[in-house]
Amino acid sequence: RHPGAPPHFITLADLSAPEVEKLVREALAFKLLVKTVGPRSVQQSFTNRSAALVFSKRSTRTRVASETSVVTLGGTPMFLGSQDIQLGVNETLEDSARVISSMVDGIMARVGAHSEIETLAQYSSVPVINALSDLYHPTQILADILTLVETYSEIAVPEELFDVPNAHSAVRQWVNDNVDVASVLKDKKVAWVGDTNNIINEIIVTLPRLGATVSVASPKGYDKVDPRVWDRITDAGTESKIILTNSPAEALKDADVVVTDTWISMGQEDEKAARISAFAGYQLTNELINGSGAKPDWKFLHCLPRKQEEVNDEVFYGDRSLVFPEAENRKWTIMAVFDAYFGKWQRA
Ligand code: CP
Ligand code: NVA
Repeated sequence: RHPGAPPHFITLADLSAPEVEKLVREALAFKLLVKTVGPRSVQQSFTNRSAALVFSKRSTRTRVASETSVVTLGGTPMFLGSQDIQLGVNETLEDSARVISSMVDGIMARVGAHSEIETLAQYSSVPVINALSDLYHPTQILADILTLVETYSEIAVPEELFDVPNAHSAVRQWVNDNVDVASVLKDKKVAWVGDTNNIINEIIVTLPRLGATVSVASPKGYDKVDPRVWDRITDAGTESKIILTNSPAEALKDADVVVTDTWISMGQEDEKAARISAFAGYQLTNELINGSGAKPDWKFLHCLPRKQEEVNDEVFYGDRSLVFPEAENRKWTIMAVFDAYFGKWQRA
């Protein structure tokens, strides 16, 4: 970055492990505070400012989480969907980035090709946050980490901390001192059974640095990790914590956490029939997971939206499924990212 350039949030691979952990703790503090005391207790870092939410693809969770988070932080969100702006269609991405960023204080964008978010960031004069590209989905994996932290650790904030005049600082400090994000992931085995897409890419550039092992089962033809992602893994020196296989059973053996996503990501709709046939045998069921020797207390994650083919109802709605807390945690983690990247940043 050149001096004076705003900070951008493009993938967690750009953050150190302690920086990722800090965002997760900040998100947890927001969640505990807002749910216990209410949104007025939040220290608003984005008052009198606005954020453009530029979405070229559909969204439920990311959009709702983002619009509501900007409001809680005191700012105004402006949602710009593909009917409003078609990025790169009637003007260049460079021109859109220059113009939008001249009028708002932060941009979040959901794009097609990853190069689009990079171009927006390159020409924006305000921070740019990746709301999903075809390569990465950083805010999703922050929510997944928060969900695992809540699942595997005791979080009992002393009640009196919510009653002090600056409850946000008090709760933030308590979470900072008492919640050890890395210890939750350390030595956990995370098993992915599905496509090598943006979600698993973000997982493999992040969770191994927090101590987890990630095993990835994908069918032949869909099993190549993008070289841009693998470069980040070799840079981090975490290759030995990633297992690539074509066998769901091998990936699931001894798994603590089982994860999947749609086999047909946004933009791949034309490949639906070919993909459904290539992924035969990859549907997650209790029979497959237990029969493969996952840990007895395995948990299930899915970023949503979910289709029947990749996971059956028994797993998706079962008592090991964390999918709805995971979805809600999109809000608290996006709030933490906006606070850190939009709220704490000022134009020179
Ligand atoms: N998980 C996720 O990004 O959901 P949306 O596509 O609904 O935003
Ligand atoms: N892999 C999916 C994730 C959706 C949140 C997609 O890109 O469509």
